[in-house]
Amino acid sequence: MLVYLLLAALLTDFSSAGVFYKDCGSVDGTISNIEVSSCASEPCQFQKNTNISVTIDFTSKTVVSSATTVVHGIIAGIPVPFTSVQPDACKDMSCPLASGTKYTYKNQVAVLPIYPTIQLVVQWEVKDQDGKDLLCFKIPVRITN
Ligand SMILES: *[C@@H]1O[C@H](CO)[C@@H](O)[C@H](O)[C@H]1NC(C)=O
Repeated sequence: MLVYLLLAALLTDFSSAGVFYKDCGSVDGTISNIEVSSCASEPCQFQKNTNISVTIDFTSKTVVSSATTVVHGIIAGIPVPFTSVQPDACKDMSCPLASGTKYTYKNQVAVLPIYPTIQLVVQWEVKDQDGKDLLCFKIPVRITN
């Protein structure tokens, strides 16, 4: 019986497995899962001249009328803005958000040819109309040719 329960738990885990991420202060939302394309193992591989899609399942804890996506690459501790991201987060989820409701956010980042081929931490934030983090997560990334 116990074996079956463990097996069921494992299978459930695998079917809903998203990427490994670290929450960096999602104040107005609770992240339940994150999917990143070309991220089968750590670190995620961001190949130049491709678009990487990011899908976040979350629950809003508050009413959100407008929101902005802000992405940074943290290189040697220093946050550098990624500007190749569409910033209006309401184009990537169905605004306005109601409190206590589940939503899916889907956006993409273009990996530009000018980016250096290094390993870094990508910090992805979605800020609400008050500038508070609705969502914030960090993932390890390697930029490849
Ligand atoms: C990335 O997405 C942008 C915007 O949708 C599109 O214009 C561009 O062609 C895409 N680039 C690649 C390499 O798929």
